[in-house]
Amino acid sequence: MLVLNQNVTRETYPPELARILNVEAAEESRAWLRQWDQLRQGETPLWSLRSAAKRLGVAEVAVKDESVRSTLGSFKALGAPIALIRLVRRLWPAENLRAADLFRGQHHALLQDLTVISATDGNHGRALAAAARSLGCRCVIVLHAHVSAEREQAIAAYGARIIRISGNYDESVNKAARLAAKNKWFVVSDTSYDGYEDIPRDVMQGYGTIVAEVIEQTTGGRADPAFTHVFLQGGVGGLAAGLASYFWEYHGEHCPRFVVVEPEQADCLMQSAIRNAASKATGTVDSVMAGLACGEASPLAWKILQPRIDAFQTIQDSDAVNAMQWLASGCDGDVPIVAGESGAAGLAGLVALLKDKKSAEMIGLNSDARILLINTEGATAPSVYADLTGVSAAQVLKRQADYLSYPVA
Ligand SMILES: Cc1ncc(COP(=O)(O)O)c(C=O)c1O
Repeated sequence: MLVLNQNVTRETYPPELARILNVEAAEESRAWLRQWDQLRQGETPLWSLRSAAKRLGVAEVAVKDESVRSTLGSFKALGAPIALIRLVRRLWPAENLRAADLFRGQHHALLQDLTVISATDGNHGRALAAAARSLGCRCVIVLHAHVSAEREQAIAAYGARIIRISGNYDESVNKAARLAAKNKWFVVSDTSYDGYEDIPRDVMQGYGTIVAEVIEQTTGGRADPAFTHVFLQGGVGGLAAGLASYFWEYHGEHCPRFVVVEPEQADCLMQSAIRNAASKATGTVDSVMAGLACGEASPLAWKILQPRIDAFQTIQDSDAVNAMQWLASGCDGDVPIVAGESGAAGLAGLVALLKDKKSAEMIGLNSDARILLINTEGATAPSVYADLTGVSAAQVLKRQADYLSYPVA
């Protein structure tokens, strides 16, 4: 299903939104992230899928591959560490703490009694646990009933204390807030709620690194972006807001069009578009796309998405699985890519949209379209990945290495 946004504007980036997210703060975050040894040195790949573009009848399909940003396996590695650094600097304003020193654990004595807590569907919690370990503070992660045991182990491996609840994601968010209030811990969440905006803003700001790299990796200018359309996965809306805001501020009225893709069971952003306010999902909020299985839109993210996103799309779990398989096989001679359930959702949305000619036309998806997809995660749940694709991530990486030695196209 596709819902066009009736409120979308083509104006330049408004000052009231620049007070929330802006390129300058994104660049500062990026400079800090370069100091964290948990991230790869240099940019992540921007793959061109020429055969996919040909098959889909568009001019270009490119995939920004966040699966290799770090061993944490997802783009979330860019958000939590920035929020944690900014939180610590706010808590100790007189100390003039440098990000590089914090990431190297040089202030662990100062931070050893600080506890941060968050609810997570997996990826954000893993990134927060890793950042907390680097800085030397304590971390508590609240997991809801649907988070798999292997995702739990991946978080616990970074030394976080895990609290399991029987409810869903939104209940885990409430539980984290209650525990924080009771114990004087600090919530470092990727979603905002009433009276809680600074930290989710900092998380989203960290994601701007992805766009900064894409712009450097392509030849398009400010008035002539390299891409006409960007497909962005939607959970609570943080990824979409973080990336769309950077593109918007940079390209102004020439900004590409954006399509936000969600599971049909967790359609909180589409519902927000229909109701013109940050809203709850209508479905069961249980999807194979674990990272996108969020029941409630982040109101802060919605402030950016409401005027900027051209269309909101829902897809089925089977669409995502087909896209994972397509990317893993390097179909028709494209580079094989490890894309997890949520990572492949952008391609899934594109494929589904192109099957519906009327909808595709309405948002200008034609043979001249140059599309950017973000592979937001690799095999973050390795056994789920192997079950759904029939191959392991290691096998796909081997295919990728072979392809890069002897490109087919
Ligand atoms: C792999 C992956 N992609 C996309 C998203 C969506 O991000 P957001 O919740 O900020 O919209 C998530 C969220 O956890 C995720 O883990």
